[in-house]
Amino acid sequence: MKNFKRTLITSALPYANGPVHIGHLAGVYVPADIYARYLRLKGEEVAFIGGSDEHGVPITLKAKKEGITPQDVVDKYHGMIKDSFEKFGISFDVYSRTSAKIHHETASEIFKTLHDKGAFIEQTSEQFFDEEAKQFLADRYITGTCPKCNYEKAYGDQCESCGSTLNATDLIDPKSVLSGNKPVMRQTKHWFLPLDQYEPWLREWILEEHKEWKPNVYGQCKSWIDGGLNPRAVTRDLDWGIPVPVEGGEGKVLYVWFDAPIGYISATKEWTPDWTKWWKDPETKLVHFIGKDNIVFHCIIFPVVLKAEGSYILPENVPANEFLNLEGDKISTSRNWAVWLHEYLEDFPGKEDVLKYTLTANAPETKDNDFTWKDFQTRNNSELVAIFGNFVNRALVLTDKYYDGIVPEAGELTEYDQQTLNEIGNLKKEVEKSIDTYHFREGLKSAMELARLGNKYLADMEPWKVVKTDPERVKTIMNTALQITANLTIVFEPFLPFTTDKLRGFMNFEKLDWHQLGRTDLIKGGHKIKTPELLFEKIEDEAIQAQVDKLLATKKVNELEQAEVNPPKDNIEYEDFAKLDIRIGTIIAAEKVAKTKKLLKLTIDTGIDKRTVVSGIAEYFEPEKIIGQQVSILVNLAPKILKGIESQGMILMAENGDGALVFVTAENKIKEGSEIR
Ligand code: MF3
Ligand code: ZN
Repeated sequence: MKNFKRTLITSALPYANGPVHIGHLAGVYVPADIYARYLRLKGEEVAFIGGSDEHGVPITLKAKKEGITPQDVVDKYHGMIKDSFEKFGISFDVYSRTSAKIHHETASEIFKTLHDKGAFIEQTSEQFFDEEAKQFLADRYITGTCPKCNYEKAYGDQCESCGSTLNATDLIDPKSVLSGNKPVMRQTKHWFLPLDQYEPWLREWILEEHKEWKPNVYGQCKSWIDGGLNPRAVTRDLDWGIPVPVEGGEGKVLYVWFDAPIGYISATKEWTPDWTKWWKDPETKLVHFIGKDNIVFHCIIFPVVLKAEGSYILPENVPANEFLNLEGDKISTSRNWAVWLHEYLEDFPGKEDVLKYTLTANAPETKDNDFTWKDFQTRNNSELVAIFGNFVNRALVLTDKYYDGIVPEAGELTEYDQQTLNEIGNLKKEVEKSIDTYHFREGLKSAMELARLGNKYLADMEPWKVVKTDPERVKTIMNTALQITANLTIVFEPFLPFTTDKLRGFMNFEKLDWHQLGRTDLIKGGHKIKTPELLFEKIEDEAIQAQVDKLLATKKVNELEQAEVNPPKDNIEYEDFAKLDIRIGTIIAAEKVAKTKKLLKLTIDTGIDKRTVVSGIAEYFEPEKIIGQQVSILVNLAPKILKGIESQGMILMAENGDGALVFVTAENKIKEGSEIR
């Protein structure tokens, strides 16, 4: 393995079009943070870079929907995201954003360099154009009918109903999101990165020289390369983004995936004037932490940009994770199916590490994984509380009780004591091996083994019994237990930094570096600890149920929104329609029909007369509450006897697929007897 002088850690820049959720944390920021903290603890030179990705079409669509500017959108979410990361203790050295001036400059410069070197090809193609809005339409700005499943609201790049990837030109009956009009085809010029020209190099660099990359990452790269690489447009017709800085670029911006990864470089520049040593010195090890949907951009497209530029280093590794699901379903911002970090912080104050623990213990490192609240509770109650917390609490409470908080000197160690202490060094090696190869889940497991070891040691030694027969021996037992506790403050530092801080507080103990881990004389006899408190607390069923209920409510809302729409009925002639005599009326009396659940007996002022209508709406409306409600009533429906009452007409109701009912009526109050046609 190559020897590096320093490590540059980047974590994918989250889109500033929504808050961040547990999927982001589990897939990218927690592993990156563990890695950064671990290396710092080892005394290595580290830069940990983050920031918000503030360009791209979804941000402009969101702005449009909310009637605000794209800058407003990104200001709002950049602030929220940054705040959530800070509160979770994600230890970025810099957290920047791609709307920053320094980023616009940096990305422009790199584009210009590539342009001047002749690294792009220019191509004119036909794109959809909205003549009314006078602009070219990005794929997301076009909707139409999916050619595969006939879903009517498919986007120009994808159908969200059947999941097919589409070209905007595939859509049947395409419409512009901006004007609702049918777009026309118009010629436009764009700059393309000829990925195909880099194929031999990519083959060599990834498939030969980086066989050690995770199988999911290596496999995706291989299938892209084997599938044949095509030139890729790096500019767009859009008015939000970084203007194309060369002749002919007016009205166009850099493609978001061209500028965003350059954000890592701009953020480093913002952080330090000495940024070139991080990006241009081959002794810097560059590692990108990302989710699996970002692999092609970080392993193929961005490296090709860097390679074409010529003066930058390339990533040494890209430990991409798979996805985290939530209670069996894909996490989705638009469906609000997520555990939002800002909400978690409110609902579980002081429990940042509990979430990090759960997400790491269950990290989607090799396959998609599922987060469930039940598992979260079990991880907390049966692992953090029952093992880690229990051991530490016993060690500190007994020290407090037997020795007034003063660490006793150890006497002669038994073979079992010695074996136990030796195990610390073994576990250290395990944790190192895991973290060095990006297996954080395994690393955490080994760290937890140390807490288990301590727990077992005290359970086996039973100092609370021995104290009655051999108080001298108890000093050695407690000293041994406290050495384990002291080691726990080091081994957990990369994983659970709030917890180790707290534990050091209880122990009145300084922060030690990684190299001290494994030593068995970390805490000296005579040292005074503080009165201990609980390190973790149990999470009760009610708190978990509240979260599950919250998700169930979301599910309900989504089901209502996605309720089936019935297919259209056969056409009729106008004459058929004209036979219907529909009037505006007002409900002037309402009562339940005895012995039925569904029926209300209504008296309606139709303007023509006051008549009785029996209507099946009793499950949705209280009779008292609908007096005075204006309704549409079909007055020439042949009368019918229902439960012994003659019903003279029918009230029109709108009903979604779920059965919920609303009255159909005029927008404003209007004279009874007015005709609807
Ligand atoms: N915003 C992208 C996403 O959330 C990630 C961008 S990573 C960067 O999928 F490299 F482009 F910055
Ligand atoms: Zn479809």
